[in-house]
Amino acid sequence: MDEVVRGNRVVWEQASTKHVREYDELLEQARGGADLFPRELELLGPVLAGGPTVVHFQSGHGVDDPALVRAGARVVVGIDYSVVAAGAAQRRATEIGTPCRYVAAEVPGVPVRDECADLVYTGKGAVIWMRDIDAWARDVARVLRPGGSLFVYDAHPAVPLWTWDEDEPRIRPDRSYFAESHVNDTFPGDGAREWQWTLGQFVTAVSRAGLQLDVLEEYAEPFWRPGDGTTAAAWSGRLPNAYALLAHKNASSAASS
Ligand SMILES: C[S@@+](CC[C@H](N)C(=O)[O-])C[C@H]1O[C@@H](n2cnc3c(N)ncnc32)[C@H](O)[C@@H]1O
Repeated sequence: MDEVVRGNRVVWEQASTKHVREYDELLEQARGGADLFPRELELLGPVLAGGPTVVHFQSGHGVDDPALVRAGARVVVGIDYSVVAAGAAQRRATEIGTPCRYVAAEVPGVPVRDECADLVYTGKGAVIWMRDIDAWARDVARVLRPGGSLFVYDAHPAVPLWTWDEDEPRIRPDRSYFAESHVNDTFPGDGAREWQWTLGQFVTAVSRAGLQLDVLEEYAEPFWRPGDGTTAAAWSGRLPNAYALLAHKNASSAASS
């Protein structure tokens, strides 16, 4: 693990204590109070109908995992380098008796067998923490069985540009769509270095890893809004704030690493 990634991990270990402080609230969400977004359920419907084995890259609080099980997944393995996050998610899964288990480990380099997953699920604040997007995409392709799917629902790469002004959307003067990285200044990743992958770089990495693109959609609605009621004009429908990508590994593909 390089020094910047190590520094980010320290930030995430601290930020993930929130998952322990808010244990009961997250437990209720995991028990059935929170679901995947309707569009996620639509796009993933055919995959989830087959009772897939899911590997969730950067599973965080893990609330999405019981939701994946309720929607049809046979089992979910969550991978997150935060020991605090993985531990809290495991405790919740055990308590509600859902077939989800968690491993504290770095992405990429996920410690699961080649071609073990029918679905790699990730997003909601995940891709920006990947320092090497090609290595990430290769790891996804390695983990997927032939015919398996990758699903990502994440912040649109233009999001770091938007101010949170309420009157009208503005572009932050300190940001560029084409910058390599910047230091995050919002909770929970405050102080960590996030990497910026343009939509073109991201889709190209997925394609270079040998996956076939099925769906790429952009949305005006952010995948997350602050709980304190903060609202920004940039979220009012004129600008992209999230995207979904569905891709698959050809049924005849051999494992590549
Ligand atoms: C914003 S959270 C999103 C996670 C999840 N989608 C959720 O909603 O909780 C980002 C997560 O990525 C994890 N993370 C960041 N970089 C990572 C890496 N290189 N390897 C493994 N986990 C990482 C953090 O520990 C954190 O739990």
